[in-house]
Amino acid sequence: MNPLNHVAIIMDGNGRWGIKFKNSRKAGHKAGLIVVEKIIKETIKHKIKFLTLFAFSTENWKRPKNEVDYLFNLLENFLINKIENLHNQNIKLKILGTKKFSKKLNQLLKKSETKTSKNTQLQINLALNYGSKSELIGAFKKLKKNKSNINEKNISKNLQTGSIPDPDLLIRTGNTKRLSNFLLWQLAYTEIFFEKKLWPAFNEKDYNKVIKEYKSIKRNYGTI
Ligand code: IPE
Ligand code: IPE
Ligand code: MG
Repeated sequence: MNPLNHVAIIMDGNGRWGIKFKNSRKAGHKAGLIVVEKIIKETIKHKIKFLTLFAFSTENWKRPKNEVDYLFNLLENFLINKIENLHNQNIKLKILGTKKFSKKLNQLLKKSETKTSKNTQLQINLALNYGSKSELIGAFKKLKKNKSNINEKNISKNLQTGSIPDPDLLIRTGNTKRLSNFLLWQLAYTEIFFEKKLWPAFNEKDYNKVIKEYKSIKRNYGTI
């Protein structure tokens, strides 16, 4: 049985689900947020220590402004209403990506990180305005500036994921088989599951099925 310390999820398919069932992409994002809460609970049940959620990519700024605004509004309200609850569940929140949002949201994100920084049950890494290529460039620049050696350990250490172990398992919902600039370095040996279901339709049962299958995989890391 493989240990499972870190699950990463590309939560894709909100827009398509929203259009199909509510004739609105926004309704899909709203429904997607409910699934986030369910999956957090299930992650804790499994005693998994790290959950990395891709919520907004550096490329997602290309979307219509009213969808982008809606997404950040949703996030803002989620944090305002739920941070106390996350804190009480002993969850640590960390933001991956560059905090270049409204002043209000930047402050809220910082406050949420600080408030939960000492929690130990589960660390949630929320990837927001995150792009793996930009993260790698940032790491190389830091290494150059500090005249550090370019080696695997130093590159890993200077990524935003820092000391967090690499994901054991990546799940992408939404019936699309690509990484979309997510954790390119960190996923080098991750077990990848592409799920047909759209994110708002994904549930605990689907999650448990993936986890069960993951646990039985023979992870070789190049050996036999
Ligand atoms: C993922 O769902 C959520 C974000 C990127 C914010 P999408 O909005 O990409 O949903 P589809 O892929 O268009 O259905
Ligand atoms: C990836 O989904 C980003 C998130 C889930 C936040 P996208 O829907 O943006 O990916 P592409 O553009 O279809 O590759
Ligand atoms: Mg998508």
